[in-house]
Amino acid sequence: MRTQLIVALDVPELEQAEALVKELSPVVKYFKIGMQLFTACGPDVVRMVREYNCDVFLDLKFHDIPNTVAQAALSSLRLGVFMFNVHAIGGDVMLATVMQAINKEIKQTKQQLPIVLGVTVLTSMDRQQLNRVGVIRSVKNEVVGLAVLCKKAGLSGVVCSGKEIKLLRRVMGKDFVLVVPGIRPADAKADDQKRIVTPAQAADWGANYIVVGRPITQAENRIQAVTAIVSDLN
Ligand code: C5P
Repeated sequence: MRTQLIVALDVPELEQAEALVKELSPVVKYFKIGMQLFTACGPDVVRMVREYNCDVFLDLKFHDIPNTVAQAALSSLRLGVFMFNVHAIGGDVMLATVMQAINKEIKQTKQQLPIVLGVTVLTSMDRQQLNRVGVIRSVKNEVVGLAVLCKKAGLSGVVCSGKEIKLLRRVMGKDFVLVVPGIRPADAKADDQKRIVTPAQAADWGANYIVVGRPITQAENRIQAVTAIVSDLN
C-alpha cells in the first residue's frame, strides 16, 4: 500500500471540524482527532467524521494502569476508529493487556482489528529532558527499545518522527506500521515543527501514513494543498 495521508483536525470546535471534513472528504480518507477536539466535543466528533465515510485516528495517547487503558481501548474500538494510540512507556503489561482485550472483543464482534500504535519518545523531548525523568538511554535507543516492546506486545506499529523512519524500518521490519507527523512540503513554513521531512522523503523512507495539519488546514486552497501532498507521496 502507498503512503497514506491523515489530516490532523486541530481545531477547537465541532463546527470547524465538520467544515474541514465536509470540504476535504472528497479527497481525504483519514482524519486525526486529538485531545483538544475530543475533550471539547467527545465521541460526537468521531461519529461526525464517520458520517462522511472517512476513518478516524484517535490520538489520545492513553497511559494509565493496564485495566484502565484496556477499557479506554475498548471504548475506542466501539466508536469505530480505525487507529488509536497508547504510550509505550506504560509498559509491556499495559500494552499486552490492551491487545488481549482488543483481540477478545473483535473475535466476538467480527470487527476489523484497528491499528494500535505505541507512542515512543515525544518529539518535544531531548536527551536532557529524558535524563531528568530517569531515562538514561539516548533518544534513539529509547525509541527503538520502546518500539520493540510494542511489537512484542502485538501492537501494529508506532508514531515516529521523520528522522526515525529509516532506522525503525530497518530494525522493525517491513510489516511494522510507521505513522509520521512533522511533515512539511518543500515550500511550506515549518511552524513550530523542528525536525521536519517532506512527504516524498517520508514515503521514500517507508512511512505507512503521514499526519499533516496546518500545511493543509491553513492553506489558502486546501484541496490544492492536499493534491500537491498526495502527488508528492506518489
Ligand atoms: O500542523 P502540523 O502538521 O504540525 O500538525 C501535526 C500534528 O501531529 C499535530 O496534531 C500534532 O499534535 C501531531 N504530532 C506531532 N508530533 C508528534 C506527535 C504528534 O506534530 N511527535
